[in-house]
Amino acid sequence: MPQSKETDELVFFVNGKKVIEKNADPEVNLLFYLRKTLQLTGTKDSCGGGNCGACTVMISRYDPISKKISHFSVAACLVPICSLYGAAITTVEGIGNTKTRIHPVQERIAKGHGTQCGFCTPGMVMSIYTLLRNHPQPSTEQLMESLSGNLCRCTGYRPIVESGKSFISSSSCCQMNEKGRCCLNQKENKPENKSNVCAKLYEKEEFQPLDPTQELIFPPELMRMLENPQKKILTFQGERITWIIPGTLRELLELKTEYPNAPLVMGNTALGPDMKFKGVFYPIIISPAKISELLAISKTKEGLTLGAGLSLAQVKTILADVVTQLPEEKTQMYRALLKHLQTLAGQQIRNMASLGGHIVSRQPISDLNPILGVGKCILNVASKEGTQQIPLNDHFLSGATNASLKPEHVLVSIFIPVSEKWEFVSAFRQAPCQQNALAVVNTGMRVLFKEDTTTIVDLNILYGGLGSTTVSANKSCRQLIGRCWDEGMLNDACRLVLEEIALPQSAPGGMVAYRRTLAISFFFKFYLDVLQQLRMRDPCGYPGLSKTLISVLEDFPLAIPQGMQSFECVDPQQPPHDPVGRPIMHQSGIKHATGEAVFCDDMPVLAEELFLAVVTSTRPHARIISIDASEALALPGVADVITAQDVPGNNGSEEERLYAQDEVICVGQIVCAVAADSYAHAKQAAKKVKIVYQDLEPVIVTIQDAIQHKSFIGPEKKLEQGNVEEAFQCVDQIIEGEVHFGGQEHFYMETQSVRVVPKKEDKEIDIYVSSQDAAFTQDMVACTLGIPKNRINCHVKRVGGAFGGKASKSGLLAAVAAVAAHKTGCPVRFVLERGDDMLITGGRHPLLGKYKIGFMNNGKIKAADIDYHINGGCTPDDSELVIEYALLKMENAYKIPNLRVRGRACKTNLPSNTAFRGFGFPQGAFVTETWMTAVASKCHLPPETVRELNMYKTIDKTIHKQEFDPKNLIKCWHKCMENSSYSSRRKAVEEFNQQSFWKKRGISIIPMKFSVGYPKTFYYQAAALVHIYTDGSVLVAHGGVELGQGINTKMIQVASRELQLPMSYIHLGEMNTMTVPNTIATAASTGADVNGKAVQNACQTLMKRLEPIVSQNPNGTWEEWVNEAFTQSISLSATGYFRGYEVHMDWEKGEGDIYPYFVFGAACSEVEIDCLTGAHKNIRTDIVMDASFSINPAVDIGQIEGAFVQGLGLYTLEELKYSPEGVLYTHGPKQYKIPSVTDIPEEFHVSLLTTTQNPKAIYSSKGLGESGMFLGSSVFFAIADAVAAARKERGLAPLLAMNSPATPEQIRMACVDQFTELVPQIDSEGCKPWSIPVA
Ligand SMILES: Cc1cc2nc3c(=O)[nH]c(=O)nc-3n(C[C@H](O)[C@H](O)[C@H](O)COP(=O)(O)OP(=O)(O)OC[C@H]3O[C@@H](n4cnc5c(N)ncnc54)[C@H](O)[C@@H]3O)c2cc1C
Ligand code: FES
Ligand code: FES
Repeated sequence: MPQSKETDELVFFVNGKKVIEKNADPEVNLLFYLRKTLQLTGTKDSCGGGNCGACTVMISRYDPISKKISHFSVAACLVPICSLYGAAITTVEGIGNTKTRIHPVQERIAKGHGTQCGFCTPGMVMSIYTLLRNHPQPSTEQLMESLSGNLCRCTGYRPIVESGKSFISSSSCCQMNEKGRCCLNQKENKPENKSNVCAKLYEKEEFQPLDPTQELIFPPELMRMLENPQKKILTFQGERITWIIPGTLRELLELKTEYPNAPLVMGNTALGPDMKFKGVFYPIIISPAKISELLAISKTKEGLTLGAGLSLAQVKTILADVVTQLPEEKTQMYRALLKHLQTLAGQQIRNMASLGGHIVSRQPISDLNPILGVGKCILNVASKEGTQQIPLNDHFLSGATNASLKPEHVLVSIFIPVSEKWEFVSAFRQAPCQQNALAVVNTGMRVLFKEDTTTIVDLNILYGGLGSTTVSANKSCRQLIGRCWDEGMLNDACRLVLEEIALPQSAPGGMVAYRRTLAISFFFKFYLDVLQQLRMRDPCGYPGLSKTLISVLEDFPLAIPQGMQSFECVDPQQPPHDPVGRPIMHQSGIKHATGEAVFCDDMPVLAEELFLAVVTSTRPHARIISIDASEALALPGVADVITAQDVPGNNGSEEERLYAQDEVICVGQIVCAVAADSYAHAKQAAKKVKIVYQDLEPVIVTIQDAIQHKSFIGPEKKLEQGNVEEAFQCVDQIIEGEVHFGGQEHFYMETQSVRVVPKKEDKEIDIYVSSQDAAFTQDMVACTLGIPKNRINCHVKRVGGAFGGKASKSGLLAAVAAVAAHKTGCPVRFVLERGDDMLITGGRHPLLGKYKIGFMNNGKIKAADIDYHINGGCTPDDSELVIEYALLKMENAYKIPNLRVRGRACKTNLPSNTAFRGFGFPQGAFVTETWMTAVASKCHLPPETVRELNMYKTIDKTIHKQEFDPKNLIKCWHKCMENSSYSSRRKAVEEFNQQSFWKKRGISIIPMKFSVGYPKTFYYQAAALVHIYTDGSVLVAHGGVELGQGINTKMIQVASRELQLPMSYIHLGEMNTMTVPNTIATAASTGADVNGKAVQNACQTLMKRLEPIVSQNPNGTWEEWVNEAFTQSISLSATGYFRGYEVHMDWEKGEGDIYPYFVFGAACSEVEIDCLTGAHKNIRTDIVMDASFSINPAVDIGQIEGAFVQGLGLYTLEELKYSPEGVLYTHGPKQYKIPSVTDIPEEFHVSLLTTTQNPKAIYSSKGLGESGMFLGSSVFFAIADAVAAARKERGLAPLLAMNSPATPEQIRMACVDQFTELVPQIDSEGCKPWSIPVA
């Protein structure tokens, strides 16, 4: 430790204001400092690990030598404040606000409907803003690149991209996409030229222009400070850590000698997550940010020497420049590095991470090290003893001590040589998705030929993802020296590599066969790449590759998404001030974009407020022997440790405890909680609580385990129609099979958050919660504390995404916090970190579907016997209801005359699964579409033919005997066929597939009948309270929660129409249980329907009261009428109520009119798969939806697009992985990938059916919150179609069922070829796999 406790002042600027921090703590990051110290809460915390972009801010730095200012986006959650000396930070608050002026980026994202819940919006705004600061006329690539590190779970990205695209002048285009159209040209796919069809969701013409002269300038004071530094070495002394910034290389080397174990922090993107998530601790940290030698660049004819401190983004720019200056043959290494730098992480991480930090941290899945390692690069290293050169090779990368940096070493620069004439270098990687995802396997490969021959003189192969370090295939390479670059060599190379690179069945990361297949598939790519380059260099000397083989080398391009949205125009006779039916911007859109919208954790900390961190079970099933909190209680700031014993009322129920009581039933169950004066203190203390367990049997993880142990939640449910057994006797064919459907994490961007504020009097409590069910939260807290509900007021201002995950779970978590508040008597804030949220709260139910289908040779299905099991996890939650819904909705759009379906929820030792958008339908109907596809395959018919043949055609009854008219279903299907030009594109797909062996295209069209709502009438009740004040302004409150779905916007539209007032008169504040009691969860797509009716009812009551006054003074103003009413003592406040739709269900009989109405739709998707890697590209999706008359087409189309993209994630990308003991591995965005901006279809068209009616719902509208989710399955079935084409060409039997999600692993392993066959079949006997499927 340094002797002196003296600490320097940390000086930086935030939004043009000087910040002097006298007690800078190295453990505090910029995000925390902005939010908690400076109260700038616009910047959001969502993952805390650099993966989501919610915390994006712009950092500007001034270089006193070059006098240049640079601006770059960063993930504030990984920026230690101590690294900010001399920096200028711009946050979302700094670029514009509603009080002065909003910035054009903020305006366009809001008006372009690029915000729903708004939690990702400030990050999106700052990414685009930073782009524009650097490139006021950006290109489409730059825009996509700038958004690559930002996740949004609500919108489906299309409107966000469009807002960004509005800054691209048409001159910045066009790279002409592959179809020969300009990327900015939206003229194609125009909506039909009907007068009642609109395609404009906002008025682009209204946007204010971007004026770069209006931006904040770099603070001159900071420039002066940097030009005349007072001190050379700066030291910041924190509570536990000292941060030292040396001024010169000599000082740095001296410090490194004095503190050899102190890390050098550069980007902090490796060190930061290690310290935060893995508990790594260093008492001293050295920051070499000011050392100019680490930022130097030198170019010689031998190669490039790059300073170790250059960011990866800078390296990318340098390399991009160099490759244009040198002959291609010299730039092999540079091109390979550039290729991976395009996809490595997101823009924010590339801006932060340094080349040196990347190399030295030697992460096993590093993208650059395998390339640098094969390329004869040299590390220039310095210590106090002098300089040294260390080869960056396989020894270094494997962590060999004799080839490594010594603790006192500093990596100063890296020499990357130019390539020799006969040298070839390639790099390949395959990740779960195209961008912002760590690779599953990556590689750098290099070959050197004897001059003018293809005889191998030197060969190097390095892989990431195949071991705990970067691994080399050295032995294989040595054996291939002297061989010619031909097919014989290729075959031997694959065999040798497989022999050399062993990967045990239990290898961490799983996917063993896939990873090994990738290793050799990449070598095949390399082989072809070299041949191709040889040919390009000497077209006469080398044979050309066939078109088929060339396609192996073609990566999917990153294109900017484009699309068209069409909807029914309002009646031209409708008064202009009546907003119903118009695409009105989200009520909070601008506030989302400026960061002014207040979410739960944005509220200021109250006096004595405590922060809660929970201790969760590490065992799936065990008895709690003891809990020892003594060490935790002794730590600074700790107020108390709360356990089950502290619960004054009910500790949940017997089946679902709040705090574990006597035993734990899953990994991730809350055992106890620590309350402390800061979250950091609470978390440190939580780690010190010692729990002794005694393991119990059985441990049930999978559905199979549950069936074996007869471990179920509730009884079996069954629906049946016709005579199934008899029908099986008279069909042409029967198929039987099963399909597994994985779960899904909600991944709402705002994690579960609650603040419990006990009041001083009468046991009153205020609860501020991010919940879709305020009344349930109130109920849970009341039961837990043993107090009446009338003392508890639950407030929900807005929720940063919920998707079903904040219905029951938020109530339980609020009750956990309430016990802490009760025990300590202090306000308690309980905000889950992303990892805890994913671990504790469960998600969508995994499902196992078994089917037996009897059908005729023409594809007509006569009989189906279906069996579903879902994995409910360790408590009942909504599992029984989910399985009921899966059954009720399983038939989707099809009339199967003889149909039996049975279902059961399984109880396992996994975290309890819960409601999730679609609620069983996305799982159940997926199984149906699986067997539809299988029947088509067996009948040698196109799947769409079989689908259409079996679809409902006329007024009929569903499996639960509810009558409905499928007219609009058929309309959607035909219109989708037409809009997507299905027939011609199906032909084009087939033609493409005939020409292409390694890439295959697939197309699929899926119909949808989605039943909206709940199974009970009382679930539909809703209430509202409308006040008119004497100034004429109106306050609306209702029982629905704003989750991002735009319910408040719609309610204002309703009130505006009913009161015949402009929307500007109407305000909607928070939802709370005091204003509207006994509310129902905002869920099941019915929020706007039922609350709209209640608001309408209240408004109509008020209008009735005003009627006599209006008729007496018809030319009066609203204000005059209101004042007159007041003087006549007429109440200007009214409640509104909607009793609900009459529904019922009789499970004994298996019948009921359970749903008020159906939403119909269809989606057509086209994809291309890479058979060699398993990657796929979403080419195009067309959706047609029957929204009847949309109250707000912008909101409804947003719901459809957002749900579709969430569905696309569910069916093709998002994969939860559990250990055989039920430990969730995928508990963060690093391991669990949700769709990012590059995953959405390149062309994405949505059109709402026009002139349809839904008399049941308000203004003939429909609830569209959930249905779009299932349409994501059209992408899955397009992939299945492409896989089927690949298998057919390879002479393989069709796969009757592919499990969901269709990950790259599944796709690759289904496209069997010589490479998959080379990988020996794994003998799993006696070997414990790393992960197991739980469905
Ligand atoms: C969200 C996210 C996504 C990512 N995605 C990818 C990806 O897709 N592909 C990929 O390859 N990587 C990825 N990474 C990893 C990333 O590339 C590395 O974290 C990064 O390159 C490390 O650089 P840094 O400057 O941040 O290192 P730091 O965290 O600052 O330092 C890391 C280590 O290097 C040492 N060090 C740093 N500089 C020197 C020096 N000059 N001399 C001696 N020692 C030094 C430090 O002592 C420390 O131990 C991702 C990281 C994050 C957070
Ligand atoms: S919160 Fe910083 S990137 Fe997610
Ligand atoms: S609007 Fe993007 S996460 Fe909700």
